[in-house]
Amino acid sequence: MANETNNFQELISHCKEYGYIFQSSEIYDGLAAVYDYGQNGAQLKKNIRDYWWKSMTQLHDNIVGIDAAIFMHPTTWKASGHVDNFSDPMIDNKDSNKRYRVDHLIEGFADEQKAKGNEQLANDTLAAMDALLLANDYAGLKQLIETNKISCAVSKTCNWTDVREFNLMFSTQIGSVAEASETIYLRPETAQGIFVNFLNVQKTGRMKIPFGIAQTGKAFRNEIVARQFIFRMREFEQMEMQFFVRPGTQMEWYNFWKEERKKWHESLGIPSTKLRFHDHVKLAHYADAALDIEFDFPFGWKELEGIHSRTDFDLKQHQEFSKKKIQYFDNDLNEAGKPFGNYIPYVVETSVGLDRLVLTILSNAYAEEKWNKEDGTEDSRVVLRIPAKIAPVKLAILPLVKKDGLPEIARELMNECKQAFHCFYEEKDAIGKRYRRMDAIGTPFCITIDHQTKEDQTVTIRYRDTMVQERIALADVKNLVISHTA
Ligand code: GAP
Repeated sequence: MANETNNFQELISHCKEYGYIFQSSEIYDGLAAVYDYGQNGAQLKKNIRDYWWKSMTQLHDNIVGIDAAIFMHPTTWKASGHVDNFSDPMIDNKDSNKRYRVDHLIEGFADEQKAKGNEQLANDTLAAMDALLLANDYAGLKQLIETNKISCAVSKTCNWTDVREFNLMFSTQIGSVAEASETIYLRPETAQGIFVNFLNVQKTGRMKIPFGIAQTGKAFRNEIVARQFIFRMREFEQMEMQFFVRPGTQMEWYNFWKEERKKWHESLGIPSTKLRFHDHVKLAHYADAALDIEFDFPFGWKELEGIHSRTDFDLKQHQEFSKKKIQYFDNDLNEAGKPFGNYIPYVVETSVGLDRLVLTILSNAYAEEKWNKEDGTEDSRVVLRIPAKIAPVKLAILPLVKKDGLPEIARELMNECKQAFHCFYEEKDAIGKRYRRMDAIGTPFCITIDHQTKEDQTVTIRYRDTMVQERIALADVKNLVISHTA
């Protein structure tokens, strides 16, 4: 196309206008960092979740899926380290009382400097921040903020408190009577539901190491910085897989999963040039290696998925806190000429945010296009080039006019196809306008039923990405769509 732009604010408006994503409780002015998915967003999200689930649990014969509860025994979070360690260094502006995550505040400053062409200052500041975070040097971080005169977006002042740690977990009470109630947490990650079920799954599934347990589900974090749309939410969904391996082999599997997951994102149409690895400088309390797969979002390179080598930390901690033995008896060690062995497996984790993946897909798909028609006039459209296999609506069925028996043929086609994939029927407005609406929703194929259909049983198929139109047999429509979307 002659002219394509990719504007983040336009994308956010588009998501609202076409039923993808709404601000939560919008009629009450919304709730910060909480979002609802509309009719197209919910279907897109489900399609991505199903694609992940299938690729993990159906295409790998050594990975099974579970669905653990959001509420877990409170000791889980003591054992996992979240009660003591799941916190971020924060700083408050004394004039606006606005709280910031220190790394986000400094990264925001670095982004501004890059935009102004001060690349060197941006990189030096980020490098200094990494070193200070690594050393847990909170006084140094405050000084870095002050030296660079990083100000609050609200008060515009540099009047900062000291840097302090704040826990990100939401807590609530379980039990009907206040005195007898107990504080429990909304899970901040789905992973712990997998760890506490390790033995249940391993024994009932007769799983042999190496094997994985996958899960999708909601997680909750009291994020301080609520911005960038669905990138950072307080209630979000994760798709996590814990891969249990023999101690000493974790780096081999870490490298395997890092490449495997990048390829998986590429299979969803994300160009490899828009994905990169970012090794962690400061490792989480449970990891001996960790990296992010980053995507080039409209607001810069940011984490899409985490790959973590979690050692035996989690299972060991749960063994200690529950006083129940959580070990694996490895028969194969004997076959390898080594003695039979009981051990706590090591874990390599892949963890991707489903909402962040929705944003990735939408950012990559959104295009504003302009071109010159043959008569020299300009035409334009907004299109979502969502891969057909995850597009919310696969096929639009459009009778050219609302009469002459065309709607009846269209309805018949609809009945034939709707068991196999999601179709959309529309007979209102001129055909060109209907095509544009389908482009904006991201529907990969439109079928127009016209008068010729009655004579020779052919229809016009229009392809979203190329806008090419051709005639095909009515009888071939269903299989053609299936062949592109399966
Ligand atoms: N179990 C490991 C874990 O939770 P993480 O890096 O904290 O690791 C994994 O989170 C993924 O979850 C991230 O890569 C991101 O895609 C997603 N995620 C984390 N916090 C999020 C938030 N506040 N909103 C949306 N997605 C989030």
